[in-house]
Amino acid sequence: MYIGLLHLHSFLRWVILVLAVLAIYKSYTGMRSGRPFTGGDKKTGLFLLIAAHTEVLIGLYQWIAGPLGVQSISNMGMGAVMKDPVYRFYGVEHITMMIIAVVLITIGKGVAKKNIPDPVKHKKTFWFFLIALIIILVSVPWPFRAAGLGRPWL
Ligand code: HEM
Repeated sequence: MYIGLLHLHSFLRWVILVLAVLAIYKSYTGMRSGRPFTGGDKKTGLFLLIAAHTEVLIGLYQWIAGPLGVQSISNMGMGAVMKDPVYRFYGVEHITMMIIAVVLITIGKGVAKKNIPDPVKHKKTFWFFLIALIIILVSVPWPFRAAGLGRPWL
């Protein structure tokens, strides 16, 4: 089951990236053209939110049940984990940065419900999703990252 969920965690990254780029593009063009904030905009944000929250749940399971989270911290101690780039990345950096990104996505999605003018909705959504996307991009263990830390494209 762990391996299956790891594959799902890896695949969902692409779903999140595609939806985030789409949502950012839509809010940017909406902002520039002054078009209304539509049901379609809401739906894109909702799908992004669902994918991101699912990713966090799977990630939490991996962090608790797998070798690169709670286990490494309790076996090696926090000091040793912080000194090792791979254990530090998965045990501390990846989880912290990704949770911040998903909180930003959640706040960005919440903007749709607010009683504010549509151009402001587009603008706020744009910035929350853009910052979240940047954080995700720098926190994914891409294959070109340091040896031992980088993972496959899929
Ligand atoms: C948008 C959010 C996230 C994205 C895009 C993401 C992406 C990834 C990717 C691409 C991998 C490598 C998968 C592979 O080896 O094929 C990975 C591994 C991992 N992620 Fe995430 N992740 C996210 C959130 C989280 C969160 C919130 C946690 C912890 C609560 C987490 C915990 C882990 C752990 C522990 C691993 C390593 C698992 C192992 O190799 O046994 N991830 N993540």
